[in-house]
Amino acid sequence: MLENPKRYTITAALPYTNGPIHIGHLAGVYVPSDIYARYLRLQGKDVAFICGSDEHGVAISMKAKKEGISPQEVIDKYDAIIRKSFVDFGISFDNYSRTSSKIHHDTAQEFFRKLYDNNDFIEEVTEQLYDAKADQFLADRFVVGTCPKCGNEEAYGDQCEKCGSTLNATDLINPKSTITGEIPVLKSTKHWFLPLDRYQDFLKEWILVGHEKDWKVNVLGQVKSWLDDGLKPRAVTRDLDWGIDVPVEGAEGKKLYVWFDAPIGYISATKEWAAREGKNWEDYWKLDSASGGTSTKLVHFIGKDNIVFHCIIFPAMLKAEGTYILPDNVPANEFLNLEGNKLSTSKNWAVWLHEYLIDFPGKQDVLRYALTANAPETKDNDFTWKDFQARNNNELAAVFGNFINRVVVLTNKYYDGIVPQPNEFNEVDERTLAELKAYPAVISSSIERYRFREAQVELMNVARLGNKYLADEEPWKMVKTDPERVKTQMYIAMQIAAALQILCEPFLPFTSGKLVKTLQCNVSTANWKSVSETSELLKPGHKIGDAEILFAQIEDAEIQNQIEKLEATKTANREEIASNLAMTEPQKETATFEDFSKLDLRVGTIVEAEKMPKANKLLVLKVDTGMDVRTIVSGIAEHFSPEEVIGKRVTILANLAPRTLRGVESEGMILMTNLPDGKLVFVNPDVDGVDNGETIS
Ligand code: 2FM
Ligand code: ZN
Repeated sequence: MLENPKRYTITAALPYTNGPIHIGHLAGVYVPSDIYARYLRLQGKDVAFICGSDEHGVAISMKAKKEGISPQEVIDKYDAIIRKSFVDFGISFDNYSRTSSKIHHDTAQEFFRKLYDNNDFIEEVTEQLYDAKADQFLADRFVVGTCPKCGNEEAYGDQCEKCGSTLNATDLINPKSTITGEIPVLKSTKHWFLPLDRYQDFLKEWILVGHEKDWKVNVLGQVKSWLDDGLKPRAVTRDLDWGIDVPVEGAEGKKLYVWFDAPIGYISATKEWAAREGKNWEDYWKLDSASGGTSTKLVHFIGKDNIVFHCIIFPAMLKAEGTYILPDNVPANEFLNLEGNKLSTSKNWAVWLHEYLIDFPGKQDVLRYALTANAPETKDNDFTWKDFQARNNNELAAVFGNFINRVVVLTNKYYDGIVPQPNEFNEVDERTLAELKAYPAVISSSIERYRFREAQVELMNVARLGNKYLADEEPWKMVKTDPERVKTQMYIAMQIAAALQILCEPFLPFTSGKLVKTLQCNVSTANWKSVSETSELLKPGHKIGDAEILFAQIEDAEIQNQIEKLEATKTANREEIASNLAMTEPQKETATFEDFSKLDLRVGTIVEAEKMPKANKLLVLKVDTGMDVRTIVSGIAEHFSPEEVIGKRVTILANLAPRTLRGVESEGMILMTNLPDGKLVFVNPDVDGVDNGETIS
């Protein structure tokens, strides 16, 4: 861990512009990174807080196909929505860029070119999955299949979302194209591979040994599991038509893998910002050329599905390039669930940020607070509307809002809003002020260890300190008997309120802004330390403004409304499942065991096949049934050529009464079934060691 860095480069995962963002994104990445960046700025630190839209990759192409618009239209639409959500929720990026920008294309290509020139890639022609119908190679999200590690049947070509393994498309068992539903074939194509195995020892030493103490357990666990499996070369180019061109000869029509270009987006976004601000971007990213070391702390905020890319692949790229710094920490969060179920864009199981603001205008801080209070820092966590209501009513309103309101109302009432001159402090006053001054260090310690929930609890303890002081001192009673003492009490309460304005800024920036107005205090950009170092934050004689309700109660009806919305989503999803089921043929009438035992089902092999003359649909097959070789006429000619079916193992109904079709007697039936796209397939008994004639029961 870098002590006393000169500057901080803080990155937040670039969201894909294939949809709006929801509370899961906010809780996992953007609120914690924003708390961190705001906190550092209040410490007077030099900070570059960087993000942008991730506009390449299969997710975008698929969305474009689904919506019948171009990828460019997709990214423009969602970049605008996402950008606005970040502004609305006060996520204080220094730069929010786009990977479709020219500066990014240039930076990513230059990076690739440098590794290429250094011979850091392996160039190889390999067989990759190919969808003949779509005339397209299948990788990443264009292909699903069974995960070889955990058996999940819906693993993607780059990653299994169930067990978290990173995969190559060719690792999938029973792969299927997500474009056409076709079973892909293998086809040769040339690609460039980053030989991750070359960095295995380095990564192990750097992370598992070097960061054993300061990185999160969930991150170390995932890294260890990949390293234990042994790293393998990974293709960093793709056969796609949407993305950044691979900038070398012989790569025409190929694009950079999205996970190669996206993290470089952090660098290009920093370049863009530095150019605008008159800074040197290299200070924020490069090793010091003289010492080979760094005084810049790089921190990547991400969700757990991004760990391998930020802890293994991107560091291997940076290491290969040779002039870049590596992250000091990657405080990845686990996932947030919603009312007990996984957040899902496709199932619309989400609280969308732009919709939240329609129902709860002006309540950005309430959501930020509830999400931080429940942040999935060490394990998956659940967001519930009831908890959201309780956090607002019982904590923000009853503790924080209540304290500020009492101080402001009483100061206005007793002293026309002017901070009174205190008299001598007694022991309680001294103790309260000492406790207050200790809080910045306590909160800092939690934030600097990426424990934002804990930090926020301590922030609320400052408001609790204020409430307790007022409740114990009861100035509203003493004002009649000892008005001089009340001046001291209100002066102290006012110092606590002013401290809250500063300390809450990283967590509740909108509330902090309102407090600036209410308390009429000066905001300096670097005043965190003033809470512990200055003897008074608001001087006697200072005039404050009027009281304003910081957190209104959230009523049961508002929460019920949200719960009903989710119920409606559930019902819609159920109806969709039911209508899909309705497309499945209903079960036939019950058959008795006797009925079933009459059927003679056997394993056979097709040994000859030819087209039935003048019939489009029929093939005349000779089938070895183990008992004999017999003729079966089958209506599969539109799906299979005779050559294709010769040698196929099949299931036959052997004792079906013979029928004559076009003059040829058919002695049995071959069992077939349909794929979802209507394609016919054999019910295949192809199990080693089963002989023709074996019965099926
Ligand atoms: O998982 C995602 O949403 C990715 N778009 C994150 C990219 S992070 C980075 F490397 F750019
Ligand atoms: Zn898996």
